Amino acid sequence: MSQQEHFRTNWPQGFLWGSATAAAQVEGAGHEGGKEDSVWDAFARIPGAVAKGENLETAVDHYHRMPEDVRLMKELGLDSYRFSTSWARVRPGDRAVNREGLDFYSRLVDELLDAGILPWLTLYHWDLPQALEEKGGWANRDTAYRFVEYATDVYEALGDRVEHWTTFNEPFCSSLLGYGSGVHAPGRQEPRAAVAAVHHQHLAHGLAVAELRHRGAAHLGITLNLSNSIPKDPSDPVDLEAARLFDSLQNRIFIDPILRGAYPEDSLRDLEPFGLAELIQPGDLEAIGAPLDFLGVNHYHDDLISGHPDLSGSDGHSGGAERPAASPWIGAEWITFPSRGLPRTAMDWEVNPDGLRHLLVRLGREYENLPPLYITENGAAYDDEVDADGAVHDAERTRFILNHIDAVGRAIDEGADVRGYFVWSLLDNFEWSWGYGKRFGIVRVDYGTLARTIKDSGHTYGRVIAAAHSGS
Ligand code: NOJ
Repeated sequence: MSQQEHFRTNWPQGFLWGSATAAAQVEGAGHEGGKEDSVWDAFARIPGAVAKGENLETAVDHYHRMPEDVRLMKELGLDSYRFSTSWARVRPGDRAVNREGLDFYSRLVDELLDAGILPWLTLYHWDLPQALEEKGGWANRDTAYRFVEYATDVYEALGDRVEHWTTFNEPFCSSLLGYGSGVHAPGRQEPRAAVAAVHHQHLAHGLAVAELRHRGAAHLGITLNLSNSIPKDPSDPVDLEAARLFDSLQNRIFIDPILRGAYPEDSLRDLEPFGLAELIQPGDLEAIGAPLDFLGVNHYHDDLISGHPDLSGSDGHSGGAERPAASPWIGAEWITFPSRGLPRTAMDWEVNPDGLRHLLVRLGREYENLPPLYITENGAAYDDEVDADGAVHDAERTRFILNHIDAVGRAIDEGADVRGYFVWSLLDNFEWSWGYGKRFGIVRVDYGTLARTIKDSGHTYGRVIAAAHSGS
């Protein structure tokens, strides 16, 4: 440990330190081992959809390098690894279960357990089988029932060894970005379909929770990407209304049904023209609001919101490719994201660690039935440089991670029940419509050779974990 490092050591007993990836972003083997197209494979073929026309075919070859990647996790001292299973690998073309696909995840789980690393499994990190998209995708209610079948297949294969089950990762993205703005797969720009996708993903979550609970799953939860919605001028009614709408679409239409079993009244009103109320069938909200064992929070940046035109340029929400994006802010396309002049990451996202503290404390105040929280993603993309000796001295990412961990510690001091922190990401990987150009890894991947090198941020994170475990 260097002279300047003074890491916090008084973390709650059992606090979990981990790192995260997602199947589509790291596995590769896009059409191997029985896997067929997911919506992302198909989307990547649309000209201009992904920066530089990149695809997910090889990604970072985790499918073949999995044992090496688990060794890296062990070297870093991770307690837990958050990964996702690919629906398009487990039930290619939405047909019968593909044993070979499940075997891969079974080997991964065994490898993790042998290394003393807790598997933290996400069932849906955006890779719907393309065959289901062709039947309407998430705009079709039937997809929710298909999801439960897939979840059951995975649970049957891994439930004897995996205790932590997350249904969905960031449904905001796979509904409003996928079917509204079109910057994510399947690239549709249809507001009504986007609203239907929101409700059907909620329903899929609720039905899968009931099924897996019934089958004996020990810890069930969901991961949401939540943000603070900060009006630019809190005395300006136009900014206040924009911030309310943003909060509704980004946060409350997701967290309220899940934790309170109801859509917020104002969201129901706002989304009335897009058919939200008509989608809700008897029993849906009871299923969706079933109690959870944890809530995963992904947080990268805050959002300063205005209802006035912003002429300052990029707002960090564009998606990075050439295909024209619509707004995901359905019915509120006029919302703008002015800059506060804070430093920004390579994603053009503002850096403000105190926002994470604020969010965690606020959730505890606003939601009575809030289950324990886990930060299931936090991290930063920067344009890394590689030294002549191959080392990556990623000082900005290191500072970003340390400052956000510090913010988590302060939130805990203020009463937030946070039980773990996962860095996004273990490896540089496929950053969706941005392709491979945005690197979030604490481990560098050389895209020529696919060789892995732990960056300075990874070494530092390892020391944070060691200090936390030593409790000294
Ligand atoms: C959230 C998503 O879950 C993950 O897939 C993505 O790479 C990171 N944010 C960074 O944008």
